[in-house]
Amino acid sequence: MDQFIIKGKKPLQGQVGISGAKNAALAILSASILCHDTCVIENIPNVNDVRVLLKSMENLGAKIDYIDQDKVRINSKEIKDYRVNYDFIKKIRASYYLLGALLGRFSNAQVALPGGCNIGNRPIDQHIKGFEALGAAVKVEHGMIHASTSGLKGANIYLDVVSVGATINIMLAATMAEGTTVIENPAKEPHIVDVANFLNSMGADIKGAGTDIIRINGVNKLHGTEYMIIPDQIEAGTYMIAAAITGGDITINNIIPKHMEAISAKLTEIGVAIEEYDEALRVLVNKPLKSIHLKTLPYPGFPTDMQPQVTTLLSMIKGTSIITESIFENRFMYTDELSRMGANIKVEGNTAIIEGISNLSGAEVSAPDLRAGAALILAGLGAEGETIVNNIQYIDRGYEHIEEKLRALGADIVRVSEKPDKKIFKVV
Ligand code: EPZ
Repeated sequence: MDQFIIKGKKPLQGQVGISGAKNAALAILSASILCHDTCVIENIPNVNDVRVLLKSMENLGAKIDYIDQDKVRINSKEIKDYRVNYDFIKKIRASYYLLGALLGRFSNAQVALPGGCNIGNRPIDQHIKGFEALGAAVKVEHGMIHASTSGLKGANIYLDVVSVGATINIMLAATMAEGTTVIENPAKEPHIVDVANFLNSMGADIKGAGTDIIRINGVNKLHGTEYMIIPDQIEAGTYMIAAAITGGDITINNIIPKHMEAISAKLTEIGVAIEEYDEALRVLVNKPLKSIHLKTLPYPGFPTDMQPQVTTLLSMIKGTSIITESIFENRFMYTDELSRMGANIKVEGNTAIIEGISNLSGAEVSAPDLRAGAALILAGLGAEGETIVNNIQYIDRGYEHIEEKLRALGADIVRVSEKPDKKIFKVV
């Protein structure tokens, strides 16, 4: 397995360009299965989750041309099978989007139960509730989810839990259902709006994405389109924290400032200076930073995917900070790794109490999941001495060229292949 070796305490300066949003791309690429025509999709992040999904779509029969580093041309006309190969797809949680897309296209879908990060129990009961409300029969057996119907019909669906995945999956299945579907209590993340905009560019009739009610009038057919994916709000937030944690000065380009509002608001409360431009934010530290209280919430609240990164920053700011994780029940596992670097964090249930210290010290740590892995890199950037981050395959799932982008900002970070254990043989 590869590792990152980081030498900390270098203030990061300069400009960084943000890639396309992973969690929008995974849903939009899956949604392209709904039509027989060609879709050209660009600003796709070149990350492992996207590569796995594209491979699984090719395995189904989709024709995919890789036009550019971040652009593909997809034609799914040749897809005849609605069963998704288990080996491909157990690795990524977003496999479940193929359920909604294949069900919408073939009235049938069989996809492996989702894999993904171990940040808590990742149920799919709301997805199933939505599919059943639309008239599908859903069975879960032998690690596979099988959904089938004689014809999807619009329905009123109230989500008991605000769920990004369930909101998107129901939109995918309802786009060509007969009649109108109303989703109440939907997720409102930027990528929900992006998926709805993509579907509408294919001829769908979806209104209200990003609000408390999404209304989908079923259409008979969808057509091909050309579409550009929004920038990744979480990648952008991660680089904002990199500026704060190293006392640097970074301009983050190719972003939509509105998507960054909750992250900018909390960093401003901490004392970080943020200058807003049309498609960029400049983030720098020009005064002492202070501890805060923070609770993760569905959008437009502070995103759970930024929780490990902001906790890491606060572990290096004097004072007592309190972080409440309200979305996932097991998203503080990485704090044990931060403690190995000297952080003083007490976790009680879904709350972390942080006693900030002036310096973390470099150590060997292991990434337990994608965003915690990014947080451990940030910890290494801010720590005294050398930090080794193991299990970086998690980080490669969602951050494009992270070491190159950080090195361009002045970070001392290299990717190496883990040294095999030295075998010590006793001569007898
Ligand atoms: C998406 O996961 C993202 N993943 C996650 O990002 C992100 O943390 C999460 O949304 C919240 O924003 C992708 O888009 C691929 P949810 P998802 O359904 O859809 C509960 C990353 O780092 N729930 O919004 O799985 C669930 O247990 C990843 O990029 C149910 O109870 O999240 C959780 O507590 C990590 N029943 C809450 O809802 C369901 O049927 C939110 O989950 C579905 C979810």
